[in-house]
Amino acid sequence: MQITNSTPWPIVIISALLTLFLLMRTTLYAETADLKFNPDQFTVKTLIYNDQRLTYRAYEDIVYVAHPVAPQFQNINIYVPMAYYEGQSVGAYQTDTAPIFLPNRVGGYMPAKPGGPALDRNNHPNAATVALSKGYVVACPGVRGRTLQDDDGLYIGKAPACIVDLKAAVRYLRYNDALFPGDAEKIVSNGTSAGGALSALLGATGNSPDYDSYLQIVGAAPTRDDIYAASCYCPITNLDHADMAYKWQFNGLNQYNAWGRKGTLSVTQIQLSNQLKALFPPYVNHLGLKTSDGTLLTLNENGHGPFRNYVKSFILSSAQHALDHGENLSNHSWITIEDGKVTEIDIDAYVAYATRMKATPAFDALDLHSPENNLFGTTTLDNQHFTAFARNQNPDHDLADTAVIKMMNPMNYIGTSKATTAQHWRIRHGAIDRDTSLAIPVILATQLMNHDYEVDFALPWGQGHGGDYDLDELFAWMAEICQ
Ligand code: DHB
Repeated sequence: MQITNSTPWPIVIISALLTLFLLMRTTLYAETADLKFNPDQFTVKTLIYNDQRLTYRAYEDIVYVAHPVAPQFQNINIYVPMAYYEGQSVGAYQTDTAPIFLPNRVGGYMPAKPGGPALDRNNHPNAATVALSKGYVVACPGVRGRTLQDDDGLYIGKAPACIVDLKAAVRYLRYNDALFPGDAEKIVSNGTSAGGALSALLGATGNSPDYDSYLQIVGAAPTRDDIYAASCYCPITNLDHADMAYKWQFNGLNQYNAWGRKGTLSVTQIQLSNQLKALFPPYVNHLGLKTSDGTLLTLNENGHGPFRNYVKSFILSSAQHALDHGENLSNHSWITIEDGKVTEIDIDAYVAYATRMKATPAFDALDLHSPENNLFGTTTLDNQHFTAFARNQNPDHDLADTAVIKMMNPMNYIGTSKATTAQHWRIRHGAIDRDTSLAIPVILATQLMNHDYEVDFALPWGQGHGGDYDLDELFAWMAEICQ
């Protein structure tokens, strides 16, 4: 109907209401139609693992949001052991009780395609393969990342896109929980490095309203996005405090070597390093972290005190574990061993042994060249600062939106009433991983423990930057928390 000036007003109102109703119906219909899992669209695949033939259904390339902006990344592969369609159980799990393993493949905050059962880069069966063999339903989401551009050249994967997509994938799984085997109340996330940080963020921020408007824009399913457990390998997280933590650990070591950028810190960088180091004790002190016996984990202005000793205690435990498993540590003069017990470690010598990777600032680079600067860009600005400290060195540069910086740090959500944080955590950070300070995973683990979450935390001896290197232990932990 064409409405003219002479159309009577009741007809105008009725016609407007009708249009509104049709519009709403179309939108709602489109969303629910797109988000509904189709149980019939699968292929049957097999693989051989540990001399056993595993048959499973592969549901691949399912777009998990109603309004994708990058469907080639915003999609998920779901793999289900065939046993569940044949009325069988796998180990302790049945079709309704099987946990859902959710590994992301994000590295460097880059865009990530969904993965699946395959060999890893060392030709070993990957975590998804092992999970399937143990009866997990495996859901591998892709997510947008910092370099993605649309046809008009606009950036469509800057923060918080990666975590918004992971949350949307979780919502998709829960929304469709009844339509395929597995229990969406038992989702266990896994990731390494930037992917470990996203796993931590997913675990910490369940159902936080902060992300709602972003989830709405991509058309995420209207349900909860909290998860059961988070496994995080070397999470490159707490980015807005990672520079000061790095300087606290590496101050005094002036040689760096990161991604082909190699050299000695300049006088200006050393001055900046000293300033950054001085910011770390106030940050740690304001957190009010405690050991299990209630000791307050503080630092004095020189960066010494209970928190430093506490970080050292994890390195000591790691060395002890290595020693107990037959490792020869006698060639490290900075480790004191008495009667089979590691009694002391000279931290400064240890850090010098591990060597320094990144220059100053390590994360919020003054020339905006770091992966994290790139993560915090906008649709039209490729790189931005995300700390006042780095931005103040060059006030012409832009600082990311405070709300976005908040959304990328799990520390802002743990122990708050606005988020449902996962109950179970496994955090591993290699004892010689220099991509971020050891203080960062220690702070994350302790904040969780202090809020009564169950945390399995360790710094594996001799381990550098990486993940999924201890799948037997990872799956033993998962079996324990899921049963
Ligand atoms: C990753 C490593 C880094 O050192 C970093 O700053 C960001 C991401 C990674 O391996 O994902």
